[in-house]
Amino acid sequence: MKVGMLLSRVRVEEKLLLEEFGRRGLQVTRIDDRDVIFELGRNNLKFDVVLERAINHSRALYALKLLNDAGITTVNTYRVADNCGNKIITSSLLARDNVPSPRTLIAFTPESALQAIEEVGYPAVLKPAVGSWGRLLSLVSDRYAAEAILEHKEILGSYHHSIFYVQEYVEKPGRDIRSFVVGDECICAIYRYSDHWLTNTARGGRAENCPVTDEIAALSLAAARSVGGGVVAIDLLENERGLLVNEVNYTMEFRNSIDTTGVNIPARIVDYTLQQGEQVGRSSAA
Ligand SMILES: Nc1ncnc2c1ncn2[C@@H]1O[C@H](COP(=O)(O)OP(=O)(O)O)[C@@H](O)[C@H]1O
Ligand SMILES: [Mg+2]
Repeated sequence: MKVGMLLSRVRVEEKLLLEEFGRRGLQVTRIDDRDVIFELGRNNLKFDVVLERAINHSRALYALKLLNDAGITTVNTYRVADNCGNKIITSSLLARDNVPSPRTLIAFTPESALQAIEEVGYPAVLKPAVGSWGRLLSLVSDRYAAEAILEHKEILGSYHHSIFYVQEYVEKPGRDIRSFVVGDECICAIYRYSDHWLTNTARGGRAENCPVTDEIAALSLAAARSVGGGVVAIDLLENERGLLVNEVNYTMEFRNSIDTTGVNIPARIVDYTLQQGEQVGRSSAA
């Protein structure tokens, strides 16, 4: 089987994935997104499956679109990357499918965004539609803060920051939950503890094993199905209303979750990727 891996820098995650492929006797072709050139209409890349591990969302998104249009199977698919890479789209899909999630309002001008913030009440959360690691998220404590942040976004922000994602602040118990879904299984989960309201491990959140309850598994699988399945990581918030799905990530980091959970996450991702590649091989042989 011919396996490709789309990547930029080889982080801990990519190193572990490459080692897992190696253990199965597979030589993976690295497709460096800094060098790759796609010639449209000419499938010059012959792969049974490509595992996408790029850091940059735009590169990942376009590369997946071009690969999928050239008939190449990818993990994840372009559709999943598109659905997960933009919080407005993810939240819209979760709402469409009645997956419990925080109350979210979308507005297109600073004036209507201010109204939306007042509507959810203080503190409110403002997020960029595209982003990760908790970057550029704001916890808006009062109207003056709201006005200042909206003005900053309008005057200093790029085009992307003039679409406003406003969310209720969910009172969570000093932690959130990050669950991992591979195919149709929720394979493990961690708690991310922090004194800060942002619990991302990239921001110093502390990982602890979180037993996968029926509720966590059901909600994680429902969220994964909403965005189109594959290999995804779900952020869940615990609240008196029960669990709420905060977001779905499509090229997740997992270095802090392997020892914590005892689950070999890269091995599971590699198994799934090879399964997807084999399915293609079988259907084209038939
Ligand atoms: N509505 C919210 N209420 C409470 N905490 C939140 C809310 N939204 C995000 N957070 C906290 O901020 C972190 C980052 O938010 P998230 O939406 O996952 O953005 P990112 O894509 O940057 O990780 C979450 O893991 C959670 O700890
Ligand atoms: Mg997150």
